[in-house]
Amino acid sequence: MAGVPATDRRLGIGFDVGGSGIKAGLVDIAAGELVGERLRVRTPDPSDPAAVAVAMHGLLEQLTAGRPAAAGIPVGVGFPAAVIGGVTRTAANVDRSWVGYPAELELARRLEHPVAVGNDADVAGLAEMRFGAGRGAVGTVMVLTIGTGIGSALFVDGRLVPNTELGHLEMRGKDAERRASDAARMRRKLSWGAWAKVFDEYLHLVQHLFWPDLFILGGGVSKRSERFVPRLTIDVPVVPAQLLNDAGIVGAAIVAHERFGRPAGRGRGRPSRGPAAARPDEAASA
Ligand code: BGC
Repeated sequence: MAGVPATDRRLGIGFDVGGSGIKAGLVDIAAGELVGERLRVRTPDPSDPAAVAVAMHGLLEQLTAGRPAAAGIPVGVGFPAAVIGGVTRTAANVDRSWVGYPAELELARRLEHPVAVGNDADVAGLAEMRFGAGRGAVGTVMVLTIGTGIGSALFVDGRLVPNTELGHLEMRGKDAERRASDAARMRRKLSWGAWAKVFDEYLHLVQHLFWPDLFILGGGVSKRSERFVPRLTIDVPVVPAQLLNDAGIVGAAIVAHERFGRPAGRGRGRPSRGPAAARPDEAASA
């Protein structure tokens, strides 16, 4: 897309809210890639809604400064919780006050943009299915994002089953993400080999419940896949995500764009149970 002025592209804004950082970027919706740099700030502590909204507001101002084309653009937010009808229903790695919080309405009020909120793994998975490692994949695809927690996004023939929350499967008496996330690898100072064993156990657990045809691994560890993927014993293809750090931002922007349409206001959109379908063929006409 080099050489195309930003005003001529379909722009979106995406946020990826995590337990340790909040990332944001302007997104070229048709190309599924960032326009300009990815911004990041540390997640405030405590990470209550008011503090997170202030941090997001700062990032939004940086992203839109000097870009009249970005005014009023829909904002998509990937958030580490089950999100139903725009309300965050859980809060594993963020402040408890997000449980039952009308995130979509409140963020729209505070950011003064239309806002769509979805589960962070769901929106990242959506981007991977359209523009990354899952492009054209049919059957059952399980996208796992491995970071502070473990997020999951389940696709059946390209269609998302939202809010699967498989990081919280029980593994030897604990939440699996407490044992097998990247944060657990770092906290327990595990070598890649030692962590690969734990993660392999987790993949088998997921496999025995869902029997996916393909696993796509996202999150920070996807950049180091050569350190652990060859050690996995699972007999299903396991591939690293391709959009790496950008998947969450890109997917969030796509979800918002599809909910609210163009800035001029084609359709006002309404809260949904989760991000829309991720059929690659639908992406072409989005
Ligand atoms: C949350 C999920 C999220 C995952 C990755 C888990 O703790 O419950 O909603 O997708 O972390 O951030």
